[in-house]
Amino acid sequence: MKRREFLRSSAAAMLVAGSGLQARADTGRDAPPPRALPLEAEAVRGRHSLHAHAHKHGLLAGAAVVVHVLQNDLALQRLVTEQYGILVPENELKWRALRPSLNQFDFTESDALFSFAKAHHLQVRGHTLVWHNSVPDWLKNESSQLDLRQLLIDHIHAVVGRYRGCVHSWDVVNEAILPDDAQQDGLRRSFWFERIGPDYIELAFRAAREADPHVRLTYNDYGVEYDNPEESARRASVLALLHRLQQRKVPIDALGIQSHIKAGSPSSIGKGLADYIESARQMGLEVYLTEMDVNEDDLLFDEVSQRDLVIARTYRDYLDVALANPAVKAMLTWGVSDRQTWLNDGPTHHRKQPNRPQRSLPFDREYRPKNAFFAIRDSFDAR
Ligand code: G3I
Repeated sequence: MKRREFLRSSAAAMLVAGSGLQARADTGRDAPPPRALPLEAEAVRGRHSLHAHAHKHGLLAGAAVVVHVLQNDLALQRLVTEQYGILVPENELKWRALRPSLNQFDFTESDALFSFAKAHHLQVRGHTLVWHNSVPDWLKNESSQLDLRQLLIDHIHAVVGRYRGCVHSWDVVNEAILPDDAQQDGLRRSFWFERIGPDYIELAFRAAREADPHVRLTYNDYGVEYDNPEESARRASVLALLHRLQQRKVPIDALGIQSHIKAGSPSSIGKGLADYIESARQMGLEVYLTEMDVNEDDLLFDEVSQRDLVIARTYRDYLDVALANPAVKAMLTWGVSDRQTWLNDGPTHHRKQPNRPQRSLPFDREYRPKNAFFAIRDSFDAR
């Protein structure tokens, strides 16, 4: 074994020993993970990493991880500790993951992520306390017999309280706006809206503040990135919501912009996004790009190198607009590598490019940095 390979494998062994993550028997939904980063990755580590470049420009770089996948993949553990300053569990802090039943909490996976982050001096975002798309079946079935206000408050107290002092920011309420639902103020007719009323939002923020007096409290939403009438209406509704919350002295510190964007979109990104971020800044809020990735289903050509260039350009153009505003303090991608992205989940027959795996993230399936990685890093430097 060459010296460099030996150092690499012992570093990996040390990582597991101190990681706080126990390897589990199941291996996730994909092929066996790569054993180590390839040699050419040397030039992207340490002071060349996303974390280092972001840090120089007042930013935190991060990514979403699936905890059981991280547990079983040493190369991924190494990659995230080298590249990022903050992680967010993709699903493990949602109601469906934490609440198997009314009287039970299951913190196994979220605890594992927090110990991993602590062992490697990484920060953690909390995602998410209230979301229409993670309501457990038992809750839907039993909701008429429950005091839902109290249940929501108790849930938030328990979850935020457990990780008090350990969280960078919580997505307290996720995706509460849907103008198509034709409610006053553009609010989505979600489970929580229907059962509690529009003030579920305020209730959630106040409960989160009670449970952790210092954590940053975020409102997070999507569909606000492009210059088109639909997204312009969504931006207006979110900003109006934030104003109402501030007028009512509801504790809120940050706006999350999910940043799921598309390569080859007919709409452009520019003034709408810039003005949106500036409005948040003027309200005294921080702004986080919370779930960035580039969906490439609209790209009509197959050549990988060509697709990668367009995806990289899409990252760069978006980030050049968003990062120009100093209120933006963090940028996280929704996943780390093309080995694991929600964009590849589910049936593919309805897609424009059925069966073609997406190359939407900064690292490829073998954890090699792609053009997107360099585009992201250049955008950090351009700030
Ligand atoms: O792990 C189970 C597996 O055991 C089971 O066999 C399988 C059968 O359906 O489900 C698996 O769980 C799935 C989980 O992802 C892990 O793959 C859930 O069904 C599926 O609903 C879940 O999807 C997640 C989705 O949120 C809903 O929670 C995606 O991974 C996650 O990327 C996505 O993330 C959302 C953000 O929270 C909010 N913004 C949009 C973003 C993308 O949709």
